[in-house]
Amino acid sequence: MLGNFTYCNPTKLYFGKDALNGLKEELPKYGKNVLLVYGGGSIKKNGIYDKVVKILKENGKNIFEDGGVMPNPTTEKLYEGIARAKKAKADFILAVGGGSCCDYAKALSISVNCKEDPWEKYYIRFEEPSCKIIPVGCVLTMVGTGSEMNGGAVITNHAQKLKIGHVFGEEVFPKFSILNPEFSMTLPKYQMVAGIYDIMSHILEQYFSGNDDNASDYIMEGMLRSLIGSALVAVKNPKDYEARSNIMWLATWALNTFVAKGKTTDWEVHMLGQAVGAHTDATHGMTLSAVSMPYYHHILPYGVEKFKRYAINVWGVSAGRKSDEEIANEGLDRMEKWMKKIGLVMNISDLGANEKMINAIAKSTLVMKGGYKVLTQKEIKEILKASL
Ligand code: NZQ
Ligand code: ZN
Repeated sequence: MLGNFTYCNPTKLYFGKDALNGLKEELPKYGKNVLLVYGGGSIKKNGIYDKVVKILKENGKNIFEDGGVMPNPTTEKLYEGIARAKKAKADFILAVGGGSCCDYAKALSISVNCKEDPWEKYYIRFEEPSCKIIPVGCVLTMVGTGSEMNGGAVITNHAQKLKIGHVFGEEVFPKFSILNPEFSMTLPKYQMVAGIYDIMSHILEQYFSGNDDNASDYIMEGMLRSLIGSALVAVKNPKDYEARSNIMWLATWALNTFVAKGKTTDWEVHMLGQAVGAHTDATHGMTLSAVSMPYYHHILPYGVEKFKRYAINVWGVSAGRKSDEEIANEGLDRMEKWMKKIGLVMNISDLGANEKMINAIAKSTLVMKGGYKVLTQKEIKEILKASL
């Protein structure tokens, strides 16, 4: 049964090969001073920077640059960005890049006019913004996080060894996002598959919770099947537009609040992955793939019914005369084979973690309550050890 909910997603999307034309429609709605947020330079190499700057100039905008947003954006970068945005008197923030740029732009949008320390307010006390928010738009170049159509903003505090995501309300969602699958085609394979697994993990975090008969779980099963097939095509031929456009669209719908409505969710894989990320600065999607198998095998006995359904409906396992556990485990085996086939990282040791770090990573792992098993510290350590 679906629980009660309200649903509104205010982000307008422009999707497809001509999506950047949407920027021309949107820019006149916002003020003159645009803070252009981007990462380490990929958009300069692949020409997206030039295309965006041309449109900004044609629309008479004053461009103020805030480049150098790193993967897993940090508190230091956020403080630097606040100073830049203030100096520029920014009316609008345009993020051109992946989830890191989009997340950073959203964090910045609620921090520039914030009277308190944003890390303390938003990430330690988990408060909502009470200041004037600068509107944000996104041109997406890396596919996976769903940041283009949600209120999430994940920030890493290296001094405190914490990587924390706060999912803000509708007022923090991007006003619009430009989704051109061709913009993602210059991604290195490592990033492409990390993004693909991020999408899968987002869906599974929302799927592996509860056993009710609700429409969301069926929608997610369809999304998973499309993702699994498209990933195999994209790994073989990264220029396959059909596969890349499916993957981009799935990423957006996997985490734009839609499939979570009316049901409980887990998110423990993300908590484990974020803790690994806080200690290693590894690529987000790979931190998730590296901990997933040990985590799912650990919780399977507490959620056999759903793992069995997953095996049959998503991985096509035939039930035959097998026990529920056997069917459920066969589903995970097929998933593991697929993960290895597309080139995902399967161990946290490949991301720079080692046995000596286990206690500290476990300490940084937040415990969620919506999954099939609420983990103890001992269990977290066991899962992390099994992920080495
Ligand atoms: O910085 P540049 O030079 O642009 O290079 C980036 C970066 O090195 C590169 N890249 C992006 N587009 C490219 C490209 N390279 C070539 N061609 C292109 N078209 O890819 C690298 C990774 O980019 P990044 O933005 O860091 O990746 P992603 O989109 O995976 O974002 C990761 C961040 O998002 C957070 C993660 O924790 C992490 O901090 N997340 C945000 C979520 C949300 N808002 O809801 C949810 C997610 O679970 C996630 O936690
Ligand atoms: Zn994620």
